[in-house]
Amino acid sequence: MTFARGWYCIGFSDEIAAGVARPARYFGQDLVVYRTASGVPVVLDAHCPHLGAHLGHGGVVVGEDLRCPFHAWTFGVDGRCSGIPYADHIPRRAFTRRWPTDEVGGLVLVWYGSDTPEYAVPPSDGHGDPAWSSFSHSMIRIRTQGREIVENVADLAHFPTVHGTVVDRFENSFEGHQAIQRSWGTAYPRGGGKDAFTLEAVYHGPAIQLTTMEGVLASRLVNAHIPIDEHELELRFGVMLRVHDNAALMERIRSAYIDNLRVGFHEDVRIWENKRWREPPVLAAGDGPIGKLRRWYQQFCEPA
Ligand code: FES
Ligand SMILES: [Fe+2]
Repeated sequence: MTFARGWYCIGFSDEIAAGVARPARYFGQDLVVYRTASGVPVVLDAHCPHLGAHLGHGGVVVGEDLRCPFHAWTFGVDGRCSGIPYADHIPRRAFTRRWPTDEVGGLVLVWYGSDTPEYAVPPSDGHGDPAWSSFSHSMIRIRTQGREIVENVADLAHFPTVHGTVVDRFENSFEGHQAIQRSWGTAYPRGGGKDAFTLEAVYHGPAIQLTTMEGVLASRLVNAHIPIDEHELELRFGVMLRVHDNAALMERIRSAYIDNLRVGFHEDVRIWENKRWREPPVLAAGDGPIGKLRRWYQQFCEPA
């Protein structure tokens, strides 16, 4: 398989507005993404089974249906044609493929690779709790493949070099569809200062990582990527902070935090966009469990 099987994030909930259809391209395929009037997120193969119009370019959400911009055939959330304005009979093959979707903890997810999802992604700890802010988030496009992003989890030796982070203790475990990283260390934020932290970051499948971080600031992070095609992906990241009485201070912290995350990812981007995938790599003691991580990831690359 070209891409790893699993759940991928196509947007934070507020990126996918009710009533608007938009074109998307993921996994090398043309798709239409929208949210129905009642709030259900839908992902369909983009091209209308009739004469092939792209449903994401001018398609209109009408209640629970999507209306094609070319001859106004309508489609239900299951991708089946629900009406043709000038015909009584709906042809049997008048449908477009519906991709499994879900919405969990402020993320809209799409399942890639088989008909039925094989595991669930839990909501981020603190999501929906008034003691926590909602997600502040951002997205960057990167010319790389998902396995490079995931490999960061086990790549102990890159933290001081690339991120200026000193990791005192680092543990990885791999359990079924989860890859778990726990670390204890000190961050030296690019803006100055020093921040002792403990962190637990869990990949739920090959593309969605939820992190709980305790330190000067408690935070909850999301890091999720989705391939556009074999060469490029979208990487989304978001942060929730524990709500603080001082709203102005919190706002400053929030935007500084997102900026810091963006800087952190950009530190990796220069490496990712220009590196070559080594299989097998030459490793040394102290590298972290890169082989184990690769074997864990491989489970998603074999047919279900
Ligand atoms: S192409 Fe979609 S209704 Fe004709
Ligand atoms: Fe990194």
